[in-house]
Amino acid sequence: MNKIIIAIDGHSSCGKSTLARALGNALGYTYISTGDMYRAVTLYFIENQVDIHVKTAVLEALKHINLHFVADENGNHIHLNGRDVSEEIRKMHVAELVSPVAVISEVRREMVRQQQDMGKEKGVVMDGRDIGTVVFPNAELKIFLTADVEVRAQRRFDELTAKGQHVNFDEVKNNLAERDRIDSTRADSPLRLADDSVVIDNSSLNHEQQLELALDLVRERVSG
Ligand code: DC
Repeated sequence: MNKIIIAIDGHSSCGKSTLARALGNALGYTYISTGDMYRAVTLYFIENQVDIHVKTAVLEALKHINLHFVADENGNHIHLNGRDVSEEIRKMHVAELVSPVAVISEVRREMVRQQQDMGKEKGVVMDGRDIGTVVFPNAELKIFLTADVEVRAQRRFDELTAKGQHVNFDEVKNNLAERDRIDSTRADSPLRLADDSVVIDNSSLNHEQQLELALDLVRERVSG
């Protein structure tokens, strides 16, 4: 079966990573969460007190950031300069700063370059906000995932609470809504629907149903 590129874009916390990971496992494809890359850059900026409003400071910092993914049975872990930060980047202090960081064109340019490199051989499932529009405009399959904001906030709240983080529901919901707003209205590579995306609203779909839908689309693209 010839390998394709699958781009999954959509709003915050609507299960893009879960679907992308499941598709990657089902197809034997590499799965990349590009949100993890923006989050890891944000963590570096926080830890090193990089002023995100000073272009030269951002460019200098980017030279010292090395990102790579390490796969194990629990998924794909992002490493920042050799350190596994996949837990740390999911915390609220990172979530609160990541959208302003993802607005910065210098950051985007570097992330997009690395992402395109990872997809050179095809056989990748990549999730993010601009994968079908900017990173891989020629991806064979583009999925735009969305869900009701209440449903998304509840899912993220449950996930954070299960990890022992003390968060309040409104705080989580407001953070989601604010990230959606910044991600969709920024000048550089805003979240938007590519003309050839297939929209899946998963508000009332379980994981298996979403995976089946997506696998049907893959079969169509591969055979067509
Ligand atoms: O997918 P996520 O929620 O982990 O992404 C974190 C943030 O990174 C999100 O608020 C927007 C940004 N992002 C982006 O701008 N472009 C991408 N391709 C992926 C994420």
